[in-house]
Amino acid sequence: MYKKLYSRFLAAHPHELHFACHSHHYWPDVTRDAQIQYWDDCCKYVDDKWSYFFSQKVPQVQKLIAENLRASYPEQFVFAQNTHEFVMRLMSSLNWQKTIRILTTDSEFYSFDRQVNRLEELGNFEVVKIPTQPFATFEQRFSKAMSEGPWDLIFISHVFFNSGYACDVAKLAQTAPAEALFVIDGYHGFMAVPLNFPLIEERAFYVAGSYKYAQGGEGACFLYVPPATRHRPFYTGWFAELSKLSAVGKQVGYPVDALQYAGSTMDFSGLYRLQATLELFKNEGLSVQGIHAFVQQNQSLFLRELDQAQHATFNKSHLLIHDVNHHGHFLTFDLGSTEITQNWVKALASKGIKTDSRGSKLRFGFGLYHEAEDVRKVIAAITSLNI
Ligand SMILES: Cc1ncc(COP(=O)(O)O)c(C=O)c1O
Repeated sequence: MYKKLYSRFLAAHPHELHFACHSHHYWPDVTRDAQIQYWDDCCKYVDDKWSYFFSQKVPQVQKLIAENLRASYPEQFVFAQNTHEFVMRLMSSLNWQKTIRILTTDSEFYSFDRQVNRLEELGNFEVVKIPTQPFATFEQRFSKAMSEGPWDLIFISHVFFNSGYACDVAKLAQTAPAEALFVIDGYHGFMAVPLNFPLIEERAFYVAGSYKYAQGGEGACFLYVPPATRHRPFYTGWFAELSKLSAVGKQVGYPVDALQYAGSTMDFSGLYRLQATLELFKNEGLSVQGIHAFVQQNQSLFLRELDQAQHATFNKSHLLIHDVNHHGHFLTFDLGSTEITQNWVKALASKGIKTDSRGSKLRFGFGLYHEAEDVRKVIAAITSLNI
């Protein structure tokens, strides 16, 4: 039904069924025009392009993101090339002159996890990671840990990258201790899994980007900064000077809006592409709820048909799923060893089916460019393979 929106990427891979779209989506055709528009605007505005980007493009993209999240303050979104930059900038808002206590999970993406592991080596960071499994008790265990503070930073994904499990992050944010920065990694949720953003918009930071379900490619990540925030991250760039500064004495001044979290010169072509995809979804009448319902339908079909096939490997006992209604857009099977998993990834690839893996976990991602017949082709390939 939506395949026509992706005609160029699909045509470039006529023999591939791309079931790794949780990792990186195919880009809709409109992103090509957006990329060319970026070039044309650079040619037209030359040195004045920055004021054009900040006065026109940034507010347009902020508005589209806010519409999709149902956020009340579009101006509270700030952009950077990747989420890691925001992770580090958030860390740099904390008081490094004392011990910094961080509460997180054992399932955060490497942009955060690797960074905190390294910071812990400095000696004044204490990082507590709550295991996400068993999922059934995760929220309860995480809530308990939150109450055993004090914490400087609480960092948690909405949808976990290594399982697809979606936790009730809005509920957790509401009950988080007031002294802690509460940060949601929304990368696997943005434009995929509905979130009650209005409930938490005064409280929580939210970081996400365009490369996955927003489908605009790399280089366009954003951070939502709650409006009352008055931080002075020490990792700061000159874009933070583009707004009115509030400085005391000889202090470095910081804006009071989201630009307090801004960095420096970046390639805005990602923003052009992100705007194009979000406008496309709007024109197609595709809300987050609509996209989610479409994907859930194909996921249910996949699970139903797998059940019927009674496959020795791809069955419920290896599926990491807690509840289909609290789940992201990829289904994860834990196959017990990295070797077995890689063999399956390769075998599926030999049949033209692109998946991906993390250690012993194989992930099937579902997107708008899949139809029921594609799902059935995957089932047929799985059952025809003998591993
Ligand atoms: C949960 C999550 N957060 C963040 C990222 C991306 O991080 P970065 O923008 O730092 O490359 C990914 C990418 O796969 C992810 O899965």
